[in-house]
Amino acid sequence: MPENDDALQRADWPLEPSSGAMREAIDLVARRIIDHVDSLPEQPAWGTEDAADVSRAVKQARERVPQHGAELEPLLEYLFSEAIPRTYNTAGPGYMAYIPGGGLFDSCLASWIADAVNRYVGVFDAAPVLSQLEANVVAWFAEIIGHPSKSHGFLTSGGSLANLSGLVTARREKLGNDLLGGVIYTSDQIHHSVLKAAAIAGFAPEAVRVLPSDSDFRMDVDSLRAAAEADRTAGLSPFLVVGSGGTTNSGAVDDLDAIADAAADLGLWFHVDAAYGGFFAMTERGGRTLAGLGRADSVVLDPHKSLFLPYGVGCLLVRDGEALRRAHAIHADYMPPMQDDADLVDFCEISPELSRGFRGLKVWLPLKRHGLSAFRDSLDEKIDLAEAAEAALRAMPDVEIVAGPQLSIVAWRWCPKGAAPDQLDELNRRLLGEVNTRQRVYLTGTRLNGEFVIRICVLSFRTHADRLEAGLDDIRRGMETLGAQFEGASA
Ligand SMILES: Cc1ncc(COP(=O)(O)O)c(C=O)c1O
Repeated sequence: MPENDDALQRADWPLEPSSGAMREAIDLVARRIIDHVDSLPEQPAWGTEDAADVSRAVKQARERVPQHGAELEPLLEYLFSEAIPRTYNTAGPGYMAYIPGGGLFDSCLASWIADAVNRYVGVFDAAPVLSQLEANVVAWFAEIIGHPSKSHGFLTSGGSLANLSGLVTARREKLGNDLLGGVIYTSDQIHHSVLKAAAIAGFAPEAVRVLPSDSDFRMDVDSLRAAAEADRTAGLSPFLVVGSGGTTNSGAVDDLDAIADAAADLGLWFHVDAAYGGFFAMTERGGRTLAGLGRADSVVLDPHKSLFLPYGVGCLLVRDGEALRRAHAIHADYMPPMQDDADLVDFCEISPELSRGFRGLKVWLPLKRHGLSAFRDSLDEKIDLAEAAEAALRAMPDVEIVAGPQLSIVAWRWCPKGAAPDQLDELNRRLLGEVNTRQRVYLTGTRLNGEFVIRICVLSFRTHADRLEAGLDDIRRGMETLGAQFEGASA
């Protein structure tokens, strides 16, 4: 097409911007992104004080479907000045709540590329090399956790869906089509996404045995053996045990070797939810804590947690890769031919999704750019920081460490002298509020042993000693503010 016709065409079709318009838009977005990322350390750790009111106002204003286009700059201004700041700052160094995310810049570039080229990585035929690059990423993960070469897996949108697919694969392998009587075993510390997965996969709550955990919040493996044997004697079909490779509550890692032994004796599928902790396996200390992970039949990892990726990337690994195909492959006449060669993969044959973009690029690009050593060093630093947090908390008067770091979470509680035991939950909630109100860090709580505890979860690649120190100072100051009311309180 002659150049002037091309220009005409572009003007007529605004959904197809010219190269100049693309460059201008990219430049505007790039400037916003760089300013945003550069200023993360100065941004508040959370900013949702008026966010519900603003959301309500947005709802009441009944933003209408735009019939005509708008300029980009005012839209970016609204996003970056009004909408994005009214959030938990999950990408900032002060975010030590729940399980921190991160948001590697190279993954941002990868998303940009993947969306721009918009290739179809659901079937091998449509994007053979891209499928293989994604399969390579999965193989790297298998190597990190110690799975054999016949292991296979796929990237999901997150840990919840990876747990669901793991559970469905276990169900298919152990129960076939007969779900009735199937029983699942897990501990009282398991992430609720596993219980949700059981419900979605067709198991009533009574089919899930929630076993007690020990004083370190690890599954009591004797209870597992006793419960599965009793259920089998009662004519039920025990088929799956789900262990934790780092709980959300306290970072506890089950004795995975002991569960693997029990699963082998009892004929159970062994699934590990290592969404939070799995990537610590690449460090020496994490590898020791997670010993036995490679023996699991299936493992969930969340690259958007301990590999610091932006949200939207989880992973399921299955020791016997063919099990994934048996659970997911369905024939349809309109589909292109699927690969017979076991070396090549059609992701739609081993996972629930059909249409999918190049999710793997968000992992492949940062790993190629930085190498595993950069991730290993950063995860090692997180373990060091969590240990430093524990030591500093122990040095504070009246602090009880409820769960010391097995990986990078410490759970603790303030019990000042003079406070009645039934006041402590409320007092710790108030202390948490005092800490968070300074907005240098954002922490959250949970319940352990029936009591409210405050957690510090160090996981962001942007969190370093200076920010942890700031958080510990804010804890001391919060204790000072609240402590005055307790006679004999030492803070
Ligand atoms: C241990 C654990 N498992 C599973 C999940 C669920 O993962 P996602 O939020 O990616 O769906 C989480 C989320 O925090 C988690 O901490």
